[in-house]
Amino acid sequence: MQIFQRILDKYAPAAKSLIEILGSIPGTAVIAGSGIADTLDSNKILLKIPYNKLSGIPELSVQGHNGEVLLYAAESNTALVFSGRFHYYEGRTYDEICSLVIISYLAGIRKIIISNAAGGLNPLFVPGEIMLIEDYIDFMFLDSSSVFDTISPVGNISYNFINKSYFGSIRNSLIKQGVQFRQGTYAAVTGPNYETRAEIKMLRRLKADAVGMSTVPEMKTAAILGMETAAFSLITNSAKEVIQSVSHKEVIEVAEKSALLVRRFIETAV
Ligand code: HPA
Repeated sequence: MQIFQRILDKYAPAAKSLIEILGSIPGTAVIAGSGIADTLDSNKILLKIPYNKLSGIPELSVQGHNGEVLLYAAESNTALVFSGRFHYYEGRTYDEICSLVIISYLAGIRKIIISNAAGGLNPLFVPGEIMLIEDYIDFMFLDSSSVFDTISPVGNISYNFINKSYFGSIRNSLIKQGVQFRQGTYAAVTGPNYETRAEIKMLRRLKADAVGMSTVPEMKTAAILGMETAAFSLITNSAKEVIQSVSHKEVIEVAEKSALLVRRFIETAV
């Protein structure tokens, strides 16, 4: 696998700036979905670097995202938290969607935790709960070949998209610390619309436990880069029969209500 020069030219300067600003780079990055970075403990934020200080990072368009890299002192580890991410439904290109993963990798980070807000399909899931992503169904069908030269004339490349040992170690830490969580399958769709009644029925028949519009392209890219990759969803609404649709404001409100749980989850996971 090789990253195309065009992609290196675009994102290496941001990685270089991060190294210059921080001196030493943490081992773990967290990509924070809607409202998730706001659940962190402000006393543990050691440094904030606005995205616009890092050349190459696209401008954000979703409200509720501040667009900052946070140096965060979690329990035993310091992590780099990216507050604000890029979605396909905003018209972003594949490399923009994955830019934070690529920059993390180029800065030397080798572990990444990707988070999102998602609709719960599993009837047991309640808004405010967290699902550790055990596996996913990719209905986004995005193609990574604009970023990597991974095309093999003899057939498919196979990558371990869900890193079992990283998943296992995070799961064990969460259990040990008594952090409540679910685990299950995440279905990734392009959006921007929420699912129809028939789509919800289909996704449930396929045994998806949650549905959302992000994360899978980033997980794939991280895995192709050989990073240890884990992901979780904050369940913000119920998509059981008919979508109980949520506005962006409501997503933020659910995140605020579960702030302590989300914070403990992240601090334990990193
Ligand atoms: N569907 C898709 N994406 C979502 C949802 C949902 O119900 N909730 C939050 N993100």
